[in-house]
Amino acid sequence: MSTLFEKTTINGLVLENRLVRSATWEGMCDDDGRPTPQLDSCYNDMALGKVGLIISGYTFVRPDGKQLPKKMGIHTDDFAVDMKRLTAAVHDAGGKICLQIVHAGGQTSSASAGRQPLAPSAVEVDQFPEKPAEMTLQDIDEIITAFAQAAGRAKEYGFDAVQLHGAHGYLINQFLSPLTNRRVDEYGGSIEKRCRFLMEIYRAVRKCVGNNYPVMVKLNGDDFLDGGLQEADAVYAAKLLDQSGIDAIEVSGGTPASGEKNPIRVKIKTAEQEAYNLGLAEHIKKEVSCPVMVVGGFRSLEVIEKVLGDGTADYISLARPLVREPDLARRWMDGDRSPARCISCNGCFKPGLKGEGIYCVVKKKEQEEK
Ligand SMILES: Cc1cc2nc3c(=O)[nH]c(=O)nc-3n(C[C@H](O)[C@H](O)[C@H](O)COP(=O)(O)O)c2cc1C
Repeated sequence: MSTLFEKTTINGLVLENRLVRSATWEGMCDDDGRPTPQLDSCYNDMALGKVGLIISGYTFVRPDGKQLPKKMGIHTDDFAVDMKRLTAAVHDAGGKICLQIVHAGGQTSSASAGRQPLAPSAVEVDQFPEKPAEMTLQDIDEIITAFAQAAGRAKEYGFDAVQLHGAHGYLINQFLSPLTNRRVDEYGGSIEKRCRFLMEIYRAVRKCVGNNYPVMVKLNGDDFLDGGLQEADAVYAAKLLDQSGIDAIEVSGGTPASGEKNPIRVKIKTAEQEAYNLGLAEHIKKEVSCPVMVVGGFRSLEVIEKVLGDGTADYISLARPLVREPDLARRWMDGDRSPARCISCNGCFKPGLKGEGIYCVVKKKEQEEK
């Protein structure tokens, strides 16, 4: 029976507990994607707070894969010093850090991408702010190479692992989804062909970092969109990755166009509303041998302990609760078992969008009123 505060290993990476910080865009880089001391301090706080594994905010592999402002970029060697300082800030506090790498594909604007966004197909769907350009085979090759180079840099700069962002409607997810992938070549059509882009990225990344370095993926178990990726296809992709040596699969669900079933659901008030992607994770867990992480709405220790105790998932990922309480893991370890104080309002996005970096606006207001 697994418990939260036990040591585990993922492909040689020793983790002090089973609590993972799910990737969370912080908006704490400069406009080019260079990490700042503000970001060092954000990660240092979580490492001191005893999070087992910190997954960075989504980090673009090429500038045309940018989306939200002040996100991190790993498309260049120019940020080497800053990246090494960032990973040291985590390691000095006893933590572990994984870099999440992404290309936003069609789920961005020309203004953010600096060009007409690229996508598997030139489709107009709710998920995309504007009509993207269909990727050529050369675009595909170049983006695969960009992912591999990004992973190579991550390893060199001291990140302990990389995670491919294959969820939430970004480029990898766009290839998996029949809604956004209407290609008739070897990258579209059957689920086998829709998986090809993901698998080529995975293999290129693996080749670059070697077998003894953790490569993980965040996958949607379901897009919750008419015509989007569905559970059976997600299970297919998870099995393929597992057979090819992926080190862990983090299960999420939905895209920003999925209405109430978007990845970042609001108003989680009861234990029943927690763990909203658990069913998807359970399905995948039954079919794979690698560790499965699950994210989405976890707020209370009782729910977390039950999931781990039942073996429904191997790791529990949290995003918003750690914005409010970077020391949540330590608080729970020290015996204060009260639930995370996050009220799931998504107010943390607002200061990020204003360029200040994310923080919990509710906590700030409460402190000001004291
Ligand atoms: C401010 C903010 C930024 C996010 N950025 C990312 C991201 O960069 N990559 C990603 O995979 N998910 C991102 N997410 C989604 C979270 O990783 C997570 O899947 C979601 O918030 C549900 O978990 P929670 O209920 O613990 O917050 C973000 C969420 C928030 C609130």
